[in-house]
Amino acid sequence: MATSDEPRLEDQHGSERQSRQSNNDQRRLDLDQKIRQEILRLGDEGTPEELRDFYNKHVEEYYELSELHQYSIGCRALIESLAEVVPDRSLRILDIGAGTGYAGKELRRLGYDNIDALDPAEGLLDIAKSQNIYQKYFLSYIFPDKKTIIEDDSYDAACMAGAVVKGHITMDCLPELMRITKKGGVIIFNIGEHYLKPNLFFKFMIWKNAFRRL
Ligand SMILES: C[S@@+](CC[C@H](N)C(=O)[O-])C[C@H]1O[C@@H](n2cnc3c(N)ncnc32)[C@H](O)[C@@H]1O
Repeated sequence: MATSDEPRLEDQHGSERQSRQSNNDQRRLDLDQKIRQEILRLGDEGTPEELRDFYNKHVEEYYELSELHQYSIGCRALIESLAEVVPDRSLRILDIGAGTGYAGKELRRLGYDNIDALDPAEGLLDIAKSQNIYQKYFLSYIFPDKKTIIEDDSYDAACMAGAVVKGHITMDCLPELMRITKKGGVIIFNIGEHYLKPNLFFKFMIWKNAFRRL
C-alpha cells in the first residue's frame, strides 16, 4: 500500500506525460529554429540553388517538421477548395512546389488521379515517389523569366501548397503559371499567415485563368 509520501501512480504517469510533452515542444522549437528559420533566411538572402540544396540536405528533418506542424491540414483546406471549383476528378492537375506530396495525397484522397508534380528538390520528390502519389515528376523550378519544359495549355489546374513564399514561387511567376494552365483553368495556392502581413488580402486566392489570351 502506498504511504502518503510515495508518489501516486497517476501522478507519476501525469508527470511522465508532461515531460514527454515538453520534450516534444522543445524538439519542435529546435527543428523550427534549424529548418524553418533557415528556409526563410535562404528565401530572403539565398539563391534558388542554395534553397534547393538545403531542402535536399534536410529531407528527413523537413518531413518531421511538416508532420509536427500538421502540414496536411493546410493542404487539405486548399485541395477541398480546389474541388469546389474543379469538380471533375479526371482533369489534369499539376502540383507545383510539390515537395514530399502532401497536397498530392489530399488530391488522391478526393479521387483525383491525373496528377503530376513539379519541384526542384529531388530529395523531397523522392518521398512522394516512394508513396506513388503522382503520375509524372518534373524536377524543375517555376521561374518568372524562364519557360519550364511543360508545354502551353497542359493543365486544367495548378496548385501550390505552401510554395508561394519569398524566394520560392513568387507573384511574378503568374504569366508562366498561366502559360502552362489551360484557358478557363484554375490556379490555386495558399500562403501561411506569418508570410503575409501586411498583405492579408492575399491570404487566400484563386485565379481563374480567363485572361491569358487577351
Ligand atoms: C514549404 S515547401 C512545400 C512543400 C509541399 N507542397 C509539400 O506538400 O510537401 C516549398 C516547396 O517549394 C519548392 N520550390 C522552391 N522554389 C521553387 C520554384 N521556383 N519552383 C517550384 N518549386 C519551388 C521547394 O523545393 C519545396 O519543395
